[in-house]
Amino acid sequence: MKLIECYNLETAYIASLNRPILNGINFHINQGEFVVLLGLNGAGKSTLLRSLLGLVPLVSGEIYVHGVQITPQTLRKVRRDIGMLFQGGGLIQQLSAIENVLCGRLGVRTTGQTLFGFPERDRILALELLEQLGLKEQIYQKTSRLSGGQQQRVAIARALIQSPQILLADEPTTGLDVVASQQVMQTLAQLNSEQGLTIITVLHDLGIAAEYAQRAIVLDAGRIVYDGKCNNLQAQFAQGFKLVETYKEYEE
Ligand SMILES: Nc1ncnc2c1ncn2[C@@H]1O[C@H](COP(=O)(O)OP(=O)(O)O)[C@@H](O)[C@H]1O
Ligand SMILES: [Mg+2]
Repeated sequence: MKLIECYNLETAYIASLNRPILNGINFHINQGEFVVLLGLNGAGKSTLLRSLLGLVPLVSGEIYVHGVQITPQTLRKVRRDIGMLFQGGGLIQQLSAIENVLCGRLGVRTTGQTLFGFPERDRILALELLEQLGLKEQIYQKTSRLSGGQQQRVAIARALIQSPQILLADEPTTGLDVVASQQVMQTLAQLNSEQGLTIITVLHDLGIAAEYAQRAIVLDAGRIVYDGKCNNLQAQFAQGFKLVETYKEYEE
C-alpha cells in the first residue's frame, strides 16, 4: 500500500544555487519500507524530509500521506502520522529524558491538559518507551548529561510517543561513535521489522545504509538520480559523482 506519494515536487528558484532546492521529485513509499536517502551535501535531502511534514513551501507538486493530500487544512492530521528526528536531535538539554519524551505529546494535548503535569497514561507510555529503548537508568537524568547515542534514543522515544506510522530521521548517526551508531540503527531496524514502522532516514555512510535499508534514494542537485536496491550502492554512487562532474563541466 502506498503510504507516501510525491509528485513533481519543486521549490522556488534560488539564484545563488542557480536552481530550485527540490527540482522535480517523484517517488512513493510503501507501508513498512525502510528507505535511506543519500546524496552529497546540499543535494536537498533535509529539505525533502521537511517537505513531507509540510514545512517547505512548494511552487508546484503534490504530497499525499495515506491518500490524503498535504494542504493547510490537512496538515495537523497528517503530522500526527509522522514522527521526525531532526538533525542534531533537537532535545531540550536542561530537561530530563522523560520530560523531553513527554514534549512529544504537546502537539496533541491542550494547555489545560498539561498545565498541572501530563496525564498518567502519557507518563506510563514515556517510561515504557525509554525502557524499551534501553534507557531505564537514564529516565530522570538531565539530557545534557547523556551520551550522544543515548540522546538520539531519547529523541526516538519522543518521536514514538505520538505512535506515528512513519518515522523520518535526518542523519541520526552523525556525530556518534561506531558503537552508538550501530545501536541507533539497530533500534530503527527493530522498530521497522517488529512494529512495521515505515522509516525514511538520511544517512551519509554508504556501509551503514547497505547494512540496514532495503531501498536507497539518491539525490543530486534536487533531483532523484537513483531509486532502487541498496546492493551495489558504491558503484551507483560512482555514477552519481560522474553526473555531478558532468554538471559542473557544463556550467563552466
Ligand atoms: N532558505 C534557503 N535559501 C537559500 N538556500 C537554501 C535555503 N535552505 C537551504 N538552502 C540550500 O539548499 C541546499 C539544499 O539544502 P539541504 O536540503 O539542507 O541539503 P542536504 O540536506 O542534502 O545537505 C543547500 O545548498 C542549502 O544551503
Ligand atoms: Mg541535511
